[in-house]
Amino acid sequence: MGFAQGVLDQSAAKADGAPAAFHVGRLPVHGDLILAPMDGVSDLPFRALARQLGSAMSYTGFANAIEILNGSARVGPVLAYEEFERPVVFQLFDDDPGRLLQAALKVRERNPDIIDINMGCSAKTVAGRGAGAGLLVEPKKIGQIFAALSRALDIPVTGKIRLGWDDESRNYLEVARTIEENGGALVAVHGRTKKQGYTGRADWDAIAEVKAAVSIPVIGNGDVRSVADIDAMKEHTRVDGVMIGRGAMENPWLFQRLDRRQVPEEIVYAAIERQLAHSLRFYGAGRGLILFRKFASRYLAAYDMEKSQRDALLTCEDPPAFLRRVGELLAEHPAFLEPRASG
Ligand SMILES: Cc1cc2nc3c(=O)[nH]c(=O)nc-3n(C[C@H](O)[C@H](O)[C@H](O)COP(=O)(O)O)c2cc1C
Repeated sequence: MGFAQGVLDQSAAKADGAPAAFHVGRLPVHGDLILAPMDGVSDLPFRALARQLGSAMSYTGFANAIEILNGSARVGPVLAYEEFERPVVFQLFDDDPGRLLQAALKVRERNPDIIDINMGCSAKTVAGRGAGAGLLVEPKKIGQIFAALSRALDIPVTGKIRLGWDDESRNYLEVARTIEENGGALVAVHGRTKKQGYTGRADWDAIAEVKAAVSIPVIGNGDVRSVADIDAMKEHTRVDGVMIGRGAMENPWLFQRLDRRQVPEEIVYAAIERQLAHSLRFYGAGRGLILFRKFASRYLAAYDMEKSQRDALLTCEDPPAFLRRVGELLAEHPAFLEPRASG
């Protein structure tokens, strides 16, 4: 798999050598495609793969300010990163400005490049208590949070938002301006309301409005699943960067600007081998494989596999046997399924 490894490494070098696509405060970002923060998904092994393929910065999944301040053991693995991932963005969530400030100061000691505030999570346990997308209904509080954190921290503070709570309260322009006016250095916009969850289509017109309304960099997010989608979002919205979540789970090679169909089997195998090895190192042998199986299943979802083949893969408990099965499957040059409709 030497060839495939070479392709991976070359891509990382290219991304790092490119001129800055935009700056977060004074921090240059060398590329305009960015892996979205995804709780339980954008862990260190997956972020490493995405970053090596060309994702330009590394957002952690969100960390709960209360757990940070309690010293909860859950926080460590979420905020773990490797140097080559920089710029590293720690994403925090809470509904209380004072606690967010204390949590941000505490995690600052782990030396991230950026602190990001989650204003998009729609889960009941988060939004229901006024954190995540729950903050969108309190723009004044958003202003307090950004004023306090940007004053107290010596690194940029950024925000990731949705368009509003529901169709009747789409206050994204007010929220984006509030972030900018209170020292925020970038805003990432998922083009849906909290109420929409993941239904409907992301509203790229609204993302374009945000881009036109503020002078800090804007990252657009929502429903990017192909290279054509990347270009279409950039063209439509003029955003500085395009953030990719679910699309990257099926095709991390999007960060290399490749559609899934364009990725040769040996490259898929090399990525699986590499991320699995990282996952085993990071989580330990048993858990590492269990947590990795869902990624392999997504990477292989493009192929017309027998159900029995997929089941055998997803229940395999031995890493070498797992890789053997992946290798056998890919060697059969399985037929490609038609891509699913995006959205
Ligand atoms: C499994 C999962 C976990 C997510 N966790 C987070 C999170 O921790 N923080 C965050 O800001 N957004 C989170 N999101 C939202 C994504 O960052 C992104 O905004 C959303 O998936 C829309 O982009 P996409 O259409 O490219 O997937 C999560 C999404 C998914 C699917």
